[in-house]
Amino acid sequence: MKTLVIGGTGTVGSQVVQRLLEKGYELRVLTTSKEKAAKLPAGVEPFIGSLEYTDTLEAAFEGIDKVFMLNAHTKNEIYQGLNAIAAAVKAGVRKFVYQSIHRARAAAYIDHFQSKVFIEEALKKSGLNYVFVCPNNFYQNDFWFKDSITKARLYNQPIGGIGLSRVDVRDIAEVVEKVLAIDRYDHQTIAVAGPEVLTGELTAAILSEHLGYEVSYIGDDLQVFKDAFSQWLPEWMVNNWAEMYDFFHNSGLAATPKELEQLTEILGHEPRTYRQFLNDYSNVFTS
Ligand SMILES: NC(=O)c1ccc[n+]([C@@H]2O[C@H](COP(=O)([O-])OP(=O)(O)OC[C@H]3O[C@@H](n4cnc5c(N)ncnc54)[C@H](OP(=O)(O)O)[C@@H]3O)[C@@H](O)[C@H]2O)c1
Repeated sequence: MKTLVIGGTGTVGSQVVQRLLEKGYELRVLTTSKEKAAKLPAGVEPFIGSLEYTDTLEAAFEGIDKVFMLNAHTKNEIYQGLNAIAAAVKAGVRKFVYQSIHRARAAAYIDHFQSKVFIEEALKKSGLNYVFVCPNNFYQNDFWFKDSITKARLYNQPIGGIGLSRVDVRDIAEVVEKVLAIDRYDHQTIAVAGPEVLTGELTAAILSEHLGYEVSYIGDDLQVFKDAFSQWLPEWMVNNWAEMYDFFHNSGLAATPKELEQLTEILGHEPRTYRQFLNDYSNVFTS
């Protein structure tokens, strides 16, 4: 029986695919892109289709036993998620692991948090055997900020002064593999977070220590963020992210000791630190 990975060509999904292949899974990856399909690792069955087009989904889910799904940040994220759930129910999928977001209900007024709440609720009502894997802000987001970090010596993700339990995407992939394999976590919500609470200033200080030169934090002025990022991203997305950073400024997003204890038990090791991430990917920030 095969496992279907939805989102398997992206940041988290590519790590999930790698991890599941190492564990001997037979995988099918749904992708909208022929180019990305051609670059999937050997042994993975690509399926060209889209969660936006329901007529492709029956075949995508045929013979599928387990599913891992994350949805791209789009305006129709809920529609895409619900289409996948309907197809999974029809195909008789045995387990559905869904990547949501850490504490989505705390900020459900933000579109991409609200989408996760809707999709979680739909999964609960679907009768499928589900697990919600709920990550905090990824360390790997900092790849997007590489030029600013290394050229302007500025950390420009405005995460604020209360702090987030940011997380390594490799830990998310390990959790996905574990909860797909073991039934013990069925119907549970698993927070996936890092071991330390990182503020903007602390992130810049750790980057300075790692890189050997002073990196400054950009500060919490979200108009500065909007002006900079609207050059590259659509307005709706920039506004969505600004709302999220505003939430982080006011409330932070720190994991509880109980969440970290459960995560450590699932991983079988402590979640990776930001310093570990920088050491493991030091070529990215020095090239
Ligand atoms: N960044 C963070 O700090 C953070 C933290 C917590 C949660 N999240 C959540 O994580 C998710 C993003 O994960 P990511 O960064 O790994 O994603 P990503 O790198 O942006 O990749 C998106 C994936 O979605 C697939 N996709 C896009 N449109 C599709 C469609 N119509 N049908 C089927 N597949 C489609 C893409 O496949 P193709 O391009 O191959 O079609 C790709 O594999 C979002 O839901 C976000 O809210 C992010």
